[in-house]
Amino acid sequence: MDERRAKKRRTGIIGVGNMGLAILRGLLAAEPEMKIFISDANPEKFRFLDAGDLRARVVVCDNNKEVAERSEVVILAVKPNDVRRVVEEIAPLMDEEKILISIAAGVPTRAIEEYLGEGRKVIRAMPNIGARVRAAVSATCKGEYAGDGDEELAKGILSAIGEVYSMKERDMDVITGLSGSGIAFFAAVIDAMADGGVYEGLPRELSLAIAAGTAMGAAKMILAGDKPSDIEAMTASPGGTTIRGLYAMESRGVKAALMEAVIEATRRAREISKMQTAN
Ligand SMILES: NC(=O)c1ccc[n+]([C@@H]2O[C@H](COP(=O)([O-])OP(=O)(O)OC[C@H]3O[C@@H](n4cnc5c(N)ncnc54)[C@H](OP(=O)(O)O)[C@@H]3O)[C@@H](O)[C@H]2O)c1
Repeated sequence: MDERRAKKRRTGIIGVGNMGLAILRGLLAAEPEMKIFISDANPEKFRFLDAGDLRARVVVCDNNKEVAERSEVVILAVKPNDVRRVVEEIAPLMDEEKILISIAAGVPTRAIEEYLGEGRKVIRAMPNIGARVRAAVSATCKGEYAGDGDEELAKGILSAIGEVYSMKERDMDVITGLSGSGIAFFAAVIDAMADGGVYEGLPRELSLAIAAGTAMGAAKMILAGDKPSDIEAMTASPGGTTIRGLYAMESRGVKAALMEAVIEATRRAREISKMQTAN
């Protein structure tokens, strides 16, 4: 990946809500050389930029067209229903050299290409809200007119907020279920485990911190190469506490429920994709 290329690009963000703001904060922290151009339906949100030297690095544009005009790479972070309107608005300013990175759930590259015009470079990305702490897991895929180098450049930009994987477009809906939505499923699991600690007498804040730290430990072990079953084998001694807890989970169908959460979220992402394609 040519990271130097990514860092030097003039980058725009249209729609600075939950995800757009998380990406902006990630880029500000990770890319000191990058100039960032932003626009939003409500520019009142940008008061925080008055702190420190942020105004020198972030240009608040009067409108979306100005972002498109002044940026080489535009990150589109508006809601899926607003994508068509915004893309058609900026299309005249997006020449064949510019790259549009859309993070909108369920909006296929071919729909964006149709709104933007033939020959325009589109990268579709699915990050997650872990971007707020630069621990997102993102997936990217490229449209018909974007090359491998364009996707690498987009990955270089998104690496400011966490890990990035290249995917086939047909897998983007599963990624939406597994990681885009999945981070909320882990939050629910951590919350439920913390409730268990509270039930048994721990103060809530402490219980939540311990549950979250424990989840992070499991995640780090798995990413380091341990299998989930290895962690179970290393903790579940015969007649011990862990096997009792695992039995309780198994008997209440927790695994099936979590699988279903991903499957249902993926199904919904597919429904949204179909609606977008039909529009
Ligand atoms: N949130 C997630 O966890 C997550 C994860 C992965 C992908 N995504 C995708 O990221 C996108 C943004 O999601 P979000 O949760 O960040 O939504 P959000 O908080 O509602 O952010 C969207 C932002 O776009 C602004 N906006 C609306 N119309 C606009 C326009 N015409 N021009 C410029 N800005 C406009 C909104 O302003 P107003 O609020 O004033 O309308 C808002 O600040 C969605 O497409 C979603 O599918 C989200």
